[in-house]
Amino acid sequence: MIDFLKKLAFDAGKIIKEYFYQNVNVYHKGKIDLVTDIDVKVEEFIKLKLSDNFSDVSIVAEESFDGNLNFDKAFFVDPIDGTTNFVHGFPFVAVSIAYISDDRKIGVVFNPILNEIFYAESGKGAYLNDEMINVSNTNDIRNSLIATGFPYSSVERNIDELMDILEKVLKSSRGIRRAGSAAIDLCYVAKGVFDGYYETGLKPWDIVAGKIIVEEAGGAVLNKRGEVYNFSDDYIVATNGNITNELLRILNGI
Ligand code: IPD
Ligand code: CA
Ligand code: CA
Ligand code: CA
Repeated sequence: MIDFLKKLAFDAGKIIKEYFYQNVNVYHKGKIDLVTDIDVKVEEFIKLKLSDNFSDVSIVAEESFDGNLNFDKAFFVDPIDGTTNFVHGFPFVAVSIAYISDDRKIGVVFNPILNEIFYAESGKGAYLNDEMINVSNTNDIRNSLIATGFPYSSVERNIDELMDILEKVLKSSRGIRRAGSAAIDLCYVAKGVFDGYYETGLKPWDIVAGKIIVEEAGGAVLNKRGEVYNFSDDYIVATNGNITNELLRILNGI
């Protein structure tokens, strides 16, 4: 199945790349929460291929989500992770596809602009363009580069808390990056570019594939209490495994 999903991500990525350099119709789901015709087009393309080939597997996809997350086995699809980047021409955009069942987990994240395909299957390691990748071995947060993101709702609420944490992380690390795609942020933790990443308010399709890739690259993906992250958790915290306690302390205001 992983080869099928990689090919599907490549083909979906071709559509994203084709329209990346063009003007597209942009709509508002919220004050700063954007969606384009291409998000919908790519999602429909992926869903059709998945349902044609795996009719017994449910599909959870951002632009057609109906609120149901109770499945034995499901695909999680984010057709364009980084829609704001897509609209503004910032090259951090990715298609993210994951498959989850009781005994098998697969994650594929493809950035068609930078031509980077990250993928992992449970128990088989994580890869970028066919080279195995691993998290960094930085063990002091003072030497770390940390990624984060801000939920679209942050323009209306919890901005003070986010700024407070941001200030503390900034003072404790080498720097912070906000690249605008949760899926790529996670893959860059897996690749050892970022030593850690945290964000609040994400949805399953943002992070399911990236979580598998980080874990297979030797990292940890947790909630704010230091337990394995699951969908209902508010904060996601991904690290190389070495700076977890320091990052959790900051996020918890300790
Ligand atoms: C968004 C991106 C972004 C994160 C937002 C997500 P979208 O996904 O992952 O990095 O900060 O919270 O919603 O809407 O571009 O698919
Ligand atoms: Ca979106
Ligand atoms: Ca997303
Ligand atoms: Ca999206």
